Amino acid sequence: MIERARIGILISGRGSNMIALADAVRHGRVPCAEVVVVVSDQPNAAGLSQAKERGIETLVIERRGRQRAEHDREIAMALNERQVDLICLAGYMRLLSSEFIDLFRGRILNIHPSLLPSFPGLDAQKQALEHGVKWTGCTVHFVDETLDGGPIIAQRVVAVADDDTVESLSARILDEEHELYPAAVSMVLANLLADSVTAQ
Ligand code: GRF
Repeated sequence: MIERARIGILISGRGSNMIALADAVRHGRVPCAEVVVVVSDQPNAAGLSQAKERGIETLVIERRGRQRAEHDREIAMALNERQVDLICLAGYMRLLSSEFIDLFRGRILNIHPSLLPSFPGLDAQKQALEHGVKWTGCTVHFVDETLDGGPIIAQRVVAVADDDTVESLSARILDEEHELYPAAVSMVLANLLADSVTAQ
């Protein structure tokens, strides 16, 4: 039975969603959870120092010319050693191998800055502006083998203004992301914790 879910967060850069999630956990807005490790594939990821400041263990696991599957195996080992129950991708810029996804199926979440299934992949905010949509937003979804295509957990809608730039739109979406991710993680953990009780 899981009493306190152990969360691992994967980042590649700024890490603002990681910080929003870690702070929400610390302030009790994500009940029965703790962030036990932040893993970056980039040694210079700005989010690493922010995680350290919060007393969270950080690991840099670089790809260093290795195949994706081998790199992912090292990450999986680190997460398993720390008995991580839930993995949150927060601006993690690498695709995960099918072996990794299989190992943690149903326990990997991602946040994406569009209303999926519209605008998957890179530069989602730019894609939305170029397409001329009037509404966009952000999505938290389970990760499967498809690109940003796994089952949707929660979404927030953001209006597109006529004079929006990629920067202004991205900033408004990001504000919503920071609220959506902790809320979605809470929902998923409530189910995970309940399942672990019935599995007893
Ligand atoms: C966010 O927009 C997130 O939706 C996307 O990558 C960006 C990461 O930003 N997957 P940050 O590193 O969390 O600040």
